[in-house]
Amino acid sequence: MNILVTGGAGFIGTNFIRYWLEKYSQDKIVNYDVLTYAGNPDSLADFEGSSRYRFIQGDINNRELVSEAMKDAEMVVHFAAETHVDRSIADPQVFLRTNVLGTQVLLEQAVKNKVGHFHHISTDEVYGTLSLAGRKKFNEDTRYRPRSPYAASKAASDHLVLAYYETYGLPVTITNCSNNYGPYQHPEKLIPLTITNLLEGLKVPVYGDGRNVRDWLYVDDHCRAIDLVLKKGQPGRVYCVGGLTSDISNLEVVKKILKLMDKDEKQLEFVKDRVGHDLKYALDWSRIKNELGWQPKADFDKRLRETVDWYLEHKSWWKKLKGRQFREYYRKQYQQ
Ligand code: NAD
Ligand code: TYD
Repeated sequence: MNILVTGGAGFIGTNFIRYWLEKYSQDKIVNYDVLTYAGNPDSLADFEGSSRYRFIQGDINNRELVSEAMKDAEMVVHFAAETHVDRSIADPQVFLRTNVLGTQVLLEQAVKNKVGHFHHISTDEVYGTLSLAGRKKFNEDTRYRPRSPYAASKAASDHLVLAYYETYGLPVTITNCSNNYGPYQHPEKLIPLTITNLLEGLKVPVYGDGRNVRDWLYVDDHCRAIDLVLKKGQPGRVYCVGGLTSDISNLEVVKKILKLMDKDEKQLEFVKDRVGHDLKYALDWSRIKNELGWQPKADFDKRLRETVDWYLEHKSWWKKLKGRQFREYYRKQYQQ
């Protein structure tokens, strides 16, 4: 099987490529990624030179290059996106360009190249926010109510993907997943930011009162879910993929990391809240469980400890991403 992966130099794409090449020894992957600030080719350096892996640097908005990269693809797995909510608040336009227009270019080329399966990676953020107190969860029938430019751009891309199924008969599937954690995540996101700031002797910025809740999904559990959808998913169908945590607040997550790293709570700093900050995400993953037999396995505390260890052991990987440009972004983002 020849697979085109977009955004494979980012967090989940990297983990997916590693997972797939290790599991399916006959398959070949082309990784198509433009390498924005979030892409790090070092993450897959050990596959360079392999006859089963090829990297092409390119923008998903570049029709000619996309068409060339897709030439032999039987399947497309689309991760490429602008992904950071805070950056989408500061500068929304690039989110529309990449997440909406770029996705449309990929879909159009997938139709043209008669790709057998187009899988789109999306997010639970398209469903908006839940109230902190309630027990409700999002599922595949929840109405779309995106509340950040990032979420709105992902919502638009989901609609386009399903429109290409209905209008052009492109065999598509979508997974809407919750917050992933694990190795190779960019240090702008909560868990790696907390770990790497503590390693650098910096404080950990917690937005607002830290009561916001996310549904944490270990990245390897997510890769297994995508695998099943690629193998057994029904064309035109959407699957929600969530983790095993329930109602764990950001503050609790950060405190767990402080404890794992033997730091005290003086390292915490409550900072100005994110505007329009979604209070809570929680996902009901019964469809993918009942139809495809998937369920998350990861114990949060165990995997969090391993994630801390990974960042401890891979300082040169993340230090490269926390250079001058990042410090400039950080100064602007966190100034009070
Ligand atoms: P990431 O930010 O770590 O990586 C994104 C990758 O896409 C980078 O390598 C970047 O260089 C590439 N990219 C960006 N713009 C591009 C363009 N125009 N052309 C080609 N490549 C481009 O993202 P991630 O966390 O790995 O997320 C992957 C996908 O999963 C995204 O679609 C995201 O919306 C979705 N998702 C992520 C999470 C999460 O917790 N990380 C949760 C839900 C959904
Ligand atoms: P993030 O990792 O940016 O993912 P998302 O916004 O897609 O959920 O943030 C996770 C949660 O952590 C979110 O509620 C915002 C919060 N947060 C902080 O409190 N401080 C920070 O410095 C960051 C980056 C996030």
